[in-house]
Amino acid sequence: MYLPLMDFTGKWSIAHDDRENVDIIRVEAFFRNELPAGEYPYPFWHSADKWNAYETMNQVNFYLNDKGEIFVGTRGNAGSNDARGSYTHVAHETFVKDHWLWTDANGKPQPEVTLFSARYQAGNPHLSRLDETYRAFASEMREGSCTGCHTPANPADATTLTLLQTPAHAAAEIDRVIDQVEKGEMPQDDIGLRKEIDPNLRAAILKTAQAFRNELAAADEWEANARANAPAVATSGQRPATDTR
Ligand code: HEC
Repeated sequence: MYLPLMDFTGKWSIAHDDRENVDIIRVEAFFRNELPAGEYPYPFWHSADKWNAYETMNQVNFYLNDKGEIFVGTRGNAGSNDARGSYTHVAHETFVKDHWLWTDANGKPQPEVTLFSARYQAGNPHLSRLDETYRAFASEMREGSCTGCHTPANPADATTLTLLQTPAHAAAEIDRVIDQVEKGEMPQDDIGLRKEIDPNLRAAILKTAQAFRNELAAADEWEANARANAPAVATSGQRPATDTR
């Protein structure tokens, strides 16, 4: 959740912690401190020290266990600031304890529920249908218990974890979802065997998944045409920073 909040320079190094006897991969990264407040997954500024630590960080460290797996990730400021570029401290409004939701200067609730509005241009005519088809599909997925397993906690202990619990993840996996549900490979039960579900539920998952996939394809096509026709304005994924909290 936090890694997309950082800019990576491509520089990295490896190190060894002699005391703990673990290998460490150090990756140069700087915090994107000027995002609209509502786009952070967590109000880091609830503590001035914490916000400062993120603003001044310059590396992410991955600690590896003896199987070569990352068992912990940390941020730090023991790296170099040479590649940081221009940087301005951002002062957020004082965080009021337990005020996780607020209204911005334009009267919009924050943090903003984006679904697909951060992925497509505001003028994309498929946005509202994308929201609708995604919500319908997500609700059938819940009925089918898909999101019980396909989450970061990985309760089924899958070797290759397919995430389905956010709109962007579901969008990326939609073809495989349709394939697996059509073949009856998914859902599984707790011991990894095919799970029989009501045929109506299977049909509903497939129908909503297909509608969602079709809308994604249409939205992508619109973006591609917009880019081809007006290269100057068609920078997909950008939108004005409206949050002036
Ligand atoms: C009880 C846990 C569980 C449930 C419930 C479950 N899955 Fe899975 N799913 C898994 C595991 C484990 C794998 C990895 C299988 C493997 O490769 O060994 C997997 C793999 C997948 C894959 C990737 C398959 C591939 O290799 O291309 C997709 C897509 C998927 N599941 C979709 C779904 C959908 C859609 C549902 C709901 C209808 C669902 N799953 C329900 C555990 C679950």
